[in-house]
Amino acid sequence: MFERVARLLASSGSTIAFTGAGISAESGIPTFRGKDGLWKNYKAEELATPEAFGRNPKLVWDFYRWRMGLILKARPNPAHYALAELERLGILTAVITQNVDDLHREAGSKNVIELHGNIFQVRCSSCPYREDLKESGRLEEFLSMKGLPKCPECGSLLRPDVVWFGEALPRDALERAFGLAEKADIVLVIGTSGAVYPAAYIPYIVNERGGRVIEVNVERSGITPIADVFIRGKAGEVLPHIVELVREVVR
Ligand code: OAD
Ligand code: ZN
Repeated sequence: MFERVARLLASSGSTIAFTGAGISAESGIPTFRGKDGLWKNYKAEELATPEAFGRNPKLVWDFYRWRMGLILKARPNPAHYALAELERLGILTAVITQNVDDLHREAGSKNVIELHGNIFQVRCSSCPYREDLKESGRLEEFLSMKGLPKCPECGSLLRPDVVWFGEALPRDALERAFGLAEKADIVLVIGTSGAVYPAAYIPYIVNERGGRVIEVNVERSGITPIADVFIRGKAGEVLPHIVELVREVVR
């Protein structure tokens, strides 16, 4: 099975990856719906909706600051590096991710499309102000802040620049992702439950246009019914193995 996947990848004209929380699980970042998933222990509607932020911004900020701290300590794992390597080999066109953790870029992936935002970016809840906390050097300040962060332009509350339930995805990212999916002949679906739309349309678009869906997950997902190949296993173990075989084929 691994050899077949390697041959398919090596002969593909355009492969994209579609990733979810499972690819970062081995980096120590909790998933949402799996065992010990965040939404098993916390209520999403109290922490990840615009209404929750309106009602109790302190609770929402405490939750995001806790996650920022966790994510800041996390390093990319072999699965992230394997995708960066596939891009260098000229096989992978883009990584389309639902993750907000920045680990694909840290691992060296260049073309990363973030469908659900980035946890290290904040924006104003009422004006167009945006800030990248890694670039502005204010990450530590945010993590240790006791009160609520205010917009330097207009004084309104700043919020995490991530997509909450009930909110639209960033239009530019979604259009680029759908555009790539329409042209892809392979999508590698890694570590996602495929439960959240519109992101989860991506493998369906590839499938409908006649492309192949290759899935890596520790268990079956909402995408598995349309997967041409389903590899059950940990992303951090399966992907480096595939890359090794791809290297042998392209050599
Ligand atoms: P989920 O938590 O829904 O799914 C994680 C998936 O990863 C599950 O299918 C697990 O079986 C799989 N998994 C766990 N460990 C793995 C490993 N080591 N290797 C491979 N697979 C593994 O996470 P997402 O599908 O990313 O949205 O969730 C989608 C969206 O729901 C998130 O982006 C977030 C959440 O609410 C927003 O924040 C808007
Ligand atoms: Zn503002």
